[in-house]
Amino acid sequence: MANTPDTILVIGACGQLGSELTLALRELYGGGNVVAADVAPPKHAELRDSGPFERVDVLDTNVLGTLVSKYKFTQIYHLAAVLSATGERNPKFAWRLNMEGLFNVLDLAVEQQVSKVYWPSSIAVFGPSTPRQHTPQHTLMDPNTVYGISKQAGERWCEYYFQKHSLDVRSLRYPGLIGYKALPGGGTTDYAVDIYHKALEGETFECFLSENTYLPMMYMPDALKATLDLMHAPAAQISVRDSYNLGAMSFSPEEITASIRKHIPDFEIIYKPDARQQIAASWPQSIDDSVARKDWGWQPAYNLDAMTADMLLNLKKMRAAQTA
Ligand code: SER
Repeated sequence: MANTPDTILVIGACGQLGSELTLALRELYGGGNVVAADVAPPKHAELRDSGPFERVDVLDTNVLGTLVSKYKFTQIYHLAAVLSATGERNPKFAWRLNMEGLFNVLDLAVEQQVSKVYWPSSIAVFGPSTPRQHTPQHTLMDPNTVYGISKQAGERWCEYYFQKHSLDVRSLRYPGLIGYKALPGGGTTDYAVDIYHKALEGETFECFLSENTYLPMMYMPDALKATLDLMHAPAAQISVRDSYNLGAMSFSPEEITASIRKHIPDFEIIYKPDARQQIAASWPQSIDDSVARKDWGWQPAYNLDAMTADMLLNLKKMRAAQTA
């Protein structure tokens, strides 16, 4: 892979997924060939020092267009979006950023002959009428957050650009993503990252979801593997051109607490559900990802206890390095 002439743009490179995906892409393609772009510069030294950064607002088509012509990107990963909880605070802006941003990228990719585009979708495309257990690839979808509506519409547009413009755009419906390198921002599944930080700080964790709220979740190394495997699969193997269901594990706040207590026995949690409880209640509890497994061999590596052990180990290392 390292010898390929690919040049890659990651939009939203400083976000929770972007910071890790950019580093993984730089490992594969070489630091200089992967341009990190975001509205604000990277805070993490590893991301800042490992390759080029460009300040870009995905709504600014002039800056974006100039950038794509300058670097002649062969692939674009467009990750910038307003997530579910934040989106509800300013629905019009969330719609504008999530939809116009996607159109800007799809149009530029067609115009400038970018060969592949990646765009993330989410379990948020599902809604209260969707079957909640083993949610199928094709099913009823009635998302009721602006984030979910924008992701569902975006999925349809991705398929449209594939059909009408032969654009090789690929997508995954991520569950809640959990990683130690960067914090998520404004999602309903964020509690499952925050809880590890609080557990290590020795604090009682105040959970904004109720104890038995099950949601599909995934550890970041699995999310990175799924993304890269999908993008590297031969086009003929990609039968889904809206977005693939993707699963790994499902757990409740009570179960992640029990998993953490295997390492930190006196960890305490209290439950104070807020508006995010309604969002969680409209999403699936578990995902049927058999199409992804069949098409391009998807298989997750981490379950809850394996993730907990790895998260706590790495967060402890990071904390030790910060205080050293
Ligand atoms: N993690 C996202 C959110 O909670 C779902 O895709 O908004």
